[in-house]
Amino acid sequence: MTRQSPGGENRTMIPLLLDCDPGIDDAVALGYLMCQEDVEVVGIAASGGNVPTAQTALNALSWLELAGRGDLPVHPGAELPLAAADGTFGAPPLYADTTHGPSGTGHAVLPSPRTTPSDISAAEAWVDAARAHPNELIGVVTGPCTNLALALELEPDLPQLIKRVFIMGGAFNYRGNTKPTTEWNIDHDPEAAARVFSGFASAQHRPVVGPIEATEAIVMTPDRISRILHGTSDPQWHNWLEHLAEALRFYFEFHAADGHGYLAQLHDPYVLAAGLQWARNPACTGGIPWAKTALAAVDVELQGSLTRGETVADWLGRWGAAPNAELIRHVQAEDFLHHLETTLMKGPTYDHAR
Ligand code: RIB
Ligand code: CA
Repeated sequence: MTRQSPGGENRTMIPLLLDCDPGIDDAVALGYLMCQEDVEVVGIAASGGNVPTAQTALNALSWLELAGRGDLPVHPGAELPLAAADGTFGAPPLYADTTHGPSGTGHAVLPSPRTTPSDISAAEAWVDAARAHPNELIGVVTGPCTNLALALELEPDLPQLIKRVFIMGGAFNYRGNTKPTTEWNIDHDPEAAARVFSGFASAQHRPVVGPIEATEAIVMTPDRISRILHGTSDPQWHNWLEHLAEALRFYFEFHAADGHGYLAQLHDPYVLAAGLQWARNPACTGGIPWAKTALAAVDVELQGSLTRGETVADWLGRWGAAPNAELIRHVQAEDFLHHLETTLMKGPTYDHAR
């Protein structure tokens, strides 16, 4: 599909749905997304994860409106992870208010949104978007896989309709960041992740999975966010970045308290950027951008008393199953961070005269 960009030239647009749980690094991903001129944001899905679903939906609306993108629909996700919703696993979901702040926006105080979440649920939005853009839609999940798993139930042919999904999550042969062996997004809804890994095994393009052993290298620092702030000129975008800097300040404090130093690991924006960059070059001549990857059959431990939620990769093929995921093993972090910095510094193309 082509559209005239603000600069007047015709562009081939990339249809995209972002399913996120803002969350501070999700907010960076939203900001990065708003700076793209060749992306048709078909929808934003808000998943429970860092904070409850109702809050992530409000946060997504607020971050979008603050940047002047109140036009983008935010589809509320399921209230609970799959196992909590159907009672097969009674433990109440954990939320990450110590990591992302009680409201999920760190120290940032965002104006309450004037718009409201869409009446169309996140799962329905996944199906509608895939059907509207057959074999073109890029789906990116930077929170739990709950909504995508529910969308698979609504439309079993989803893996044949979506061009490719990019998922931030997992810790393969690597210590967890949530429990000893689990990464947050998968830990929050392990059943959903297992269903997505299994359901998308038949997709033309295997899901790309960005686990924390790769994404932890992507580190935002106070100096870098300060450079971005001082390098941008549009007043509306500068205001947006000031709020992001306040959100990141909380994230810096969390990472320092967690022993990583006064910095912020940005997991989500990289996975979004990799998906968009891949979509611009689907021949994928250079592989997944900024990354070294490996194919593997993957699954999620659901029963382990110590390891429920652990992601497992069958590197040696012991299961006899075909690889169902392309796992990111290493990210050229500095190259990506330079790209992120210049993109956020440039900001969205505003036509304030409109
Ligand atoms: O483990 C990192 C992931 O969990 C990121 O998506 C972060 O936003 C949190 O949701
Ligand atoms: Ca997230």
